[in-house]
Amino acid sequence: MSAGEGREGARESVTVRVPAKVNVQLAVGGARPDGFHDLANVFLAVGLYDEVTVRPAQSLTITCSGPDAGQVPLDRTNLAARAAELLAARHGISPDVHIHIAKDIPVAGGMAGGSADGAGALMACDELWGLRSSRAELLAICAELGSDVPFSLVGRAALGTGRGEQLDELEVGGSFHWVFAVADGGLSTPAVYREFDRLNEGVRVPEPVASAPLLEALRTGDVLALADALSNDLQPAALSLRPSLADTLSVGVAAGALASLVSGSGPTTAFLTKDEESARAVAAALTASGTCRTARVAGAPAAGATVVAG
Ligand code: C5P
Repeated sequence: MSAGEGREGARESVTVRVPAKVNVQLAVGGARPDGFHDLANVFLAVGLYDEVTVRPAQSLTITCSGPDAGQVPLDRTNLAARAAELLAARHGISPDVHIHIAKDIPVAGGMAGGSADGAGALMACDELWGLRSSRAELLAICAELGSDVPFSLVGRAALGTGRGEQLDELEVGGSFHWVFAVADGGLSTPAVYREFDRLNEGVRVPEPVASAPLLEALRTGDVLALADALSNDLQPAALSLRPSLADTLSVGVAAGALASLVSGSGPTTAFLTKDEESARAVAAALTASGTCRTARVAGAPAAGATVVAG
């Protein structure tokens, strides 16, 4: 049977909107025997979104639109395709859908754009096929797809432990204004983790622990306290592989950002600002500086994966 076939009210298409993320704390432990690293990873979802639309098709196909569409793989390595395959396999159906990704999240930038598409396709296929999977089932598939994928489903803010996939949702007591400077070209996440290992060779890397002041800053919505508490243990590795990112970080701070950091494994850099007006000024300065390809303003926290049409 084709999924969804013959069901009352079967959908023609379903569209899910999924946010990008920034890691406001990324504490990284030593390499584990499986090659992954234990993390204390505080995710914050930000208001830049991909929209993933699925509709029944003869076979599994993917298309992508948006300024960075040319950089998105359209084969089975795309997490959106893998999400459809995993969900279909669990239910003994064939993953015959066309997936369209309207991409607005910077590609290969440390903002979990690929993970967002995985979570979005999973939620959209579940809805299209009328499977009504529980949240726990969807989260388990997300964790299989990648360390950042569960958070794309959940959104807002969460502490990720283990390799980042075990989530505890966090309270956020206010809204925050961010600017993201998008670099030319990507940085490979495994390469950044390898560089982290190289830089820490012979060093006893401490257990990663969530910062109490940072969690309190999120809970109370205190932007100055959050600016003081931002940290990313992958930043030295990202800067080592891409030294020019230091110039981008300096430009944003000189233009009035309260704090700056590399977003996840980079090369996107993130700037926390006191309000929206300051965010616009920082974005303009970054764009004018020529130290990045483009700068985007976004608010946080943003909701997780949400069905918007279908
Ligand atoms: O889980 P995901 O597929 O996103 O991870 C991509 C790569 O990032 C892994 O293959 C690994 O090299 C690195 N990684 C890691 N520790 C983590 C998460 C990712 O070393 N906690």
